[in-house]
Amino acid sequence: MKEYNWGILATGKIAATFAKAINYADHAKLYAVASRTEDKAKAFAEKFGAEKYYGTYEQLAQDKNVDIVYIASPMAQHYENAKLCLLNGKNVLCEKTITLNLKQLEELIAIAKEKDVFFMEAMWMKFLPAFKKAKEWVQSGRIGEVKAVKAELSSMNKYDENDRLFINRLGGGSLLDLGVYPITFACEFFGYQPKEIISDALIGRTGVDFDASIVLRYDNGYADLGVGFDMENNNPAFILGSEGRIRFHEWFFCTGRVTLYDIDGNVLEEFNNPHPCNGYEFEVSHVMDCLDKGLKQSDINPLSHTTATQKIMDKCRADWGLVFEGEN
Ligand SMILES: NC(=O)c1ccc[n+]([C@@H]2O[C@H](COP(=O)([O-])OP(=O)(O)OC[C@H]3O[C@@H](n4cnc5c(N)ncnc54)[C@H](OP(=O)(O)O)[C@@H]3O)[C@@H](O)[C@H]2O)c1
Repeated sequence: MKEYNWGILATGKIAATFAKAINYADHAKLYAVASRTEDKAKAFAEKFGAEKYYGTYEQLAQDKNVDIVYIASPMAQHYENAKLCLLNGKNVLCEKTITLNLKQLEELIAIAKEKDVFFMEAMWMKFLPAFKKAKEWVQSGRIGEVKAVKAELSSMNKYDENDRLFINRLGGGSLLDLGVYPITFACEFFGYQPKEIISDALIGRTGVDFDASIVLRYDNGYADLGVGFDMENNNPAFILGSEGRIRFHEWFFCTGRVTLYDIDGNVLEEFNNPHPCNGYEFEVSHVMDCLDKGLKQSDINPLSHTTATQKIMDKCRADWGLVFEGEN
C-alpha cells in the first residue's frame, strides 16, 4: 500500500485525537492541517508533526498533495467544508453527524459522485474489533433472532454557552452529537428501515435538545435508545436475542469489550481487545484500504447507511419542531 497524505480540517478536540491515530497507523502520514487562523494551524502542525499548515480551509482543499481530508469542524460547518473539499476533487472523511439534514447530505453525495471521489461519515464505532466480533456473533446465529436493542449514550456536561454542544447555530444538541451512535448501533443489528420512529426530547434553554428518547420499531422487535447531556451514565448497550444476549461494556460505541451470554444469562464468550492507540486507527486503516481498492464509498459504512440514519434524525427533529438557525 502506498503512503496516504492526510489533511485535517479544523483543530479542535477530536482533530487532536485523530491526529494521534493517523500518526499511529501504518501507511498514513499527517501531511497538512488547516485552521481558520494560521497560528492555531501552526501550533497543531508543530504538536502533531504535520508537514504543512494553512490559515484557511481553502488552501488545504487546493493542496494537490493531500489524498484525503478529515473534516473535524462543528456539525453546522460540515456541509460547506465537505462541499469545498469535494468540489476540489478531494476524498473526504467527515465527522459525525455528517450534515444537519438529509437535503444537505444528498447534495454532497451528488457532488462526490460527480467528482468521482471517496466520501464517508466517520462512524468509527463500526471498525472497532469488539463491534465486529458482536456482529459476527449475531450473523452466525449465536443469539438467535434479534428481538431488542438497548443503548443509552449520556454524559453529565457542565453547561457552557460557548460549547458547540449547546449552540443551536452550530448544530448543537444531543441527537446530532450523540444520538447518531445509538441510532446507527440499532440499525446495524436490526436494519436501516425501522417501520416506526417514536421520539421525544427535552429542548433546553439554547433551543437544542439536552436530552432525548427514541424508540425504533421493527417487525420483529424494537430498539430503545437514549441520549443526553444532563445525566451520569456508564453507557453500556445490549442486544437481546431469542437465544442469548450480547453486552457491549461501558461506553458501548468505543468499547474494546463485548460479552456473549446464553438465554439463561451464562457467559459463553468474552472478547476484550484494548485499543492499541485510541481506537480511531481502525477507521484510518479502513479508509486507506478503500482508497487502495479504488472504492468511492466504504463497504462497511456505505452512504446508504448514513442516509438512512440522517432520515431518522430528520424525523425526530421534525417531531420536536427543532430547526437549526440558518439551516438549509
Ligand atoms: N468521532 C468521535 O469520537 C467524535 C468525538 C468528538 C467530536 N466528534 C465530532 O467532531 C466534530 C468536532 O467536534 P469537537 O468536539 O472536536 O469540536 P471543537 O473542539 O469545538 O472543535 C471544532 C473546531 O472546528 C473549527 N470551527 C470551524 N468553524 C467553527 C465555528 N463556527 N465555531 C467553532 N469552531 C469552528 C474550529 O477549528 P479552527 O479554529 O482550527 O478552524 C474548532 O476548533 C463534531 O462534528 C463532533 O460531532 C466526533
